Amino acid sequence: MTDIVERYDIPVQHFWLHGPRSDRPVEYDAAAGIWGVHGYPEAHEILGDPETFSSDTFRVIPKPLMPDAEEFSLAGFITQIDPPEHGKLRKLVSSAFTRKVVADLEPRIAAVTHELLDAARDRGRLELVADLAYPLPVIVIAELLGVPGGDRALFKQWADALFQRDAKISLTEPAEQREEDIDAMKSWRDMSAYLADHAAERRRNPRADLLTRLVEAELDGERLPAGQVVNFAILLLLAGHVTTTMLLGNTVLCLDAFPEQQDRVRAHRAAVPALIEESLRYLTPFAAISRTTTRAAELGGETIPADQLLMVWLGAANRDPRQFPEPALFDPGRDPNPHLAFGRGIHFCLGAPLARLEGRIALNILLDRFDRLRTDPDDPVAFIPTPTMTGVRRLPLR
Ligand code: HEM
Repeated sequence: MTDIVERYDIPVQHFWLHGPRSDRPVEYDAAAGIWGVHGYPEAHEILGDPETFSSDTFRVIPKPLMPDAEEFSLAGFITQIDPPEHGKLRKLVSSAFTRKVVADLEPRIAAVTHELLDAARDRGRLELVADLAYPLPVIVIAELLGVPGGDRALFKQWADALFQRDAKISLTEPAEQREEDIDAMKSWRDMSAYLADHAAERRRNPRADLLTRLVEAELDGERLPAGQVVNFAILLLLAGHVTTTMLLGNTVLCLDAFPEQQDRVRAHRAAVPALIEESLRYLTPFAAISRTTTRAAELGGETIPADQLLMVWLGAANRDPRQFPEPALFDPGRDPNPHLAFGRGIHFCLGAPLARLEGRIALNILLDRFDRLRTDPDDPVAFIPTPTMTGVRRLPLR
């Protein structure tokens, strides 16, 4: 069986595809000044030890400057926060993401999926990303948050400026600021202004949405500062759709690559959730996350000093043969399938139940409505160029 990465020429880092070299699961990249972690047990250990491996990467990375030279702030951005503040913020937003809140979205997710596919049918073509995989999660998260889903062209513009670029990760040559970095910062500012307006409106007129919960929420008896509400809303808006778009696209790509698995899942729909889990392992959307060392640490046979930046390659860990036998085999029958695509430990993805639900519903509806999901050999698939993300950005189907 050919590996999907080779077959579609997906731009991933070499170690991501081939898994870690068993003798070097942790490697220092002197040119970039960054430690790469490619092994499963090593990634597992890092994510389980936030005291040694901090999420506050601005301890070691210089903060980018906004276009008019003011410093960029990620205050309230939960992915960057360590204990004990992390736990308080996480508790606050978890109350909005209960099992029931997510389960209640099921009929709405199904209705939006059908509406989007009806519109594509009327246009006579299906480009999976533009017609379904992008708009579905963005409409769902926008409605949850309480911003108009109709503004999604704007969200796409912002998300593209931030993610659709071949961003170089280096601590040794951060000085040069490229045109696209400036565009990304402008997008950030526009997005902040947009969400600040909506948050201010909710302070005046509360509604039953997540933004209202954020503006009314109290930490240690005090309301969250306005800047933190905005950053939290940005995270939810971005994390809530960019990754799920990749999940949907990647899963359909797997069905195209492995038609026998498509036949199997058509005949046995109870296998859809396991197929989605294997897609997350096999083509991990968030291929890398970062951490910094707060003290020296022994890991994978290396001694990492304090205050170092680590890229934890979840995509490579999910293909570590020490954890997943025959990692290049797309096998939805893996049980258990302890992939790290949603992270692990205190920062485990808050939106995982929502992403899984959207994946299950959309995939079942696609299987109901199309006899065969197949890519178009005359119209190639395109991928996101960002090295830390793995996902289709264009997937025309026949
Ligand atoms: C955290 C992946 C969907 C919201 C994370 C992390 C990963 C991840 C790897 C851990 C980051 C770290 O430890 O540094 C994914 C993938 C998704 C997905 C692969 C889809 C397939 C979503 C959705 C939402 C969401 C739909 C929101 C509605 C979050 C939030 C965090 C997070 C708020 C931060 C949690 C914390 O720091 O405590 N996600 N995510 N994600 N995700 Fe997701």
